[in-house]
Amino acid sequence: MKTMTCIEDLRQRARRKVPKAFFEYAEGGSYAEQTLNANCADLARIKLRQRILVDVARRSTKTTILGEPASMPLALAPVGLCGMQHGDGEILSCRAAHAAGIPFTLSTMSICSIEDVAAAVDKPFWFQLYVMKDRGFARSLIERAAAAKCSALVLTVDLQVLGQRHRDIKNGMTVPPQLRLKNVIDIATKPNWVLSVLRGKRKTFGNIAGHVRGMASVNTLSQWIAGQFDPALSWKDVEWIASTWSGKLILKGINDVEDARTAVKTGAAAIVVSNHGGRQLDGAPSSISMLPPIVEAVGSDIEIMFDGGIRSGQDLMRALALGARSCMSGRAYIYGLGAGGQAGVTRAIEILRNELDVCMALTGINSIGDIDRRVIAA
Ligand SMILES: Cc1cc2nc3c(=O)[nH]c(=O)nc-3n(C[C@H](O)[C@H](O)[C@H](O)COP(=O)(O)O)c2cc1C
Repeated sequence: MKTMTCIEDLRQRARRKVPKAFFEYAEGGSYAEQTLNANCADLARIKLRQRILVDVARRSTKTTILGEPASMPLALAPVGLCGMQHGDGEILSCRAAHAAGIPFTLSTMSICSIEDVAAAVDKPFWFQLYVMKDRGFARSLIERAAAAKCSALVLTVDLQVLGQRHRDIKNGMTVPPQLRLKNVIDIATKPNWVLSVLRGKRKTFGNIAGHVRGMASVNTLSQWIAGQFDPALSWKDVEWIASTWSGKLILKGINDVEDARTAVKTGAAAIVVSNHGGRQLDGAPSSISMLPPIVEAVGSDIEIMFDGGIRSGQDLMRALALGARSCMSGRAYIYGLGAGGQAGVTRAIEILRNELDVCMALTGINSIGDIDRRVIAA
């Protein structure tokens, strides 16, 4: 892993090791992928101020996230089908995050279930909730997350209907899934991936299979899930969830000032400024372009996290400079997982931390709390 010097190296290796359908599921965005591309491009446009001869010998990337100590301002974002990038991907990513001293978020759409992960790690993790039409099932997920002692509930609010991802359709990642000859041939060239997935605890949606009656096959399960996203979801449901979950609540997927103001009123502990990594509304502004107005409107009322396009420690610095308290990483760690399992996720986190550390040194910053707009070049 030492020769993996940047996230792009991990991405290239993941591309070689993970079957195309799953690699492109992770890599891609919705429709023309304009928002996906804007997330990275708008971050890259922000230039950092080079400062010299500041004593930075005692700098530290340590901070707090929702009041808990963290080794750096980063959490691993919820990623569906994580266990299809590498067998037991959720458990391995959670272990890597915990060893690095940062939070891990388990997706509702994970392969390993809440209980699988809880049994395999020794510290609490965060659970991400999609509220299904079947509110009884949503309630049971909340109860299971509480029983597993999850330390925060991340409610994703930007997926009432699914943005179309062209690559998924072309690769057979549809409802029901379509295994074509070209997929079989591709999978046959990835024996290590096959072994890891075969050895993994589960091969299907672990939080759902066995918890909803009549879901015997991947086909029926994926059809049930597709029919369960709820276009009628509203702020009223957020109130209901806030009253059902007694722990910390994070609202993820806010990319608009008016919505951020409403989110504050729900009593949530934090919001994540996010457009789902460019996988939902194509044509939405990049999340980094929406961060400053949202911080301006509600930054003193609620903790603000950020995601979308983070591929380097410099990107972390840019988001913090514009007012995020911490960030989430999706694809950057998923590339690590595909490239090398737990060691790959560990490497992804290490790369981001080392880059942030050097970036702090070269911008004359000693502590995360000191990062603000002054690090941005005019
Ligand atoms: C493959 C993939 C699956 C995702 N699945 C979920 C999910 O199940 N729940 C969720 O809230 N967000 C999901 N997201 C969005 C991420 O949590 C996060 O917002 C996004 O990846 C951030 O952008 P980045 O990948 O550029 O870091 C997913 C993202 C990717 C790339």
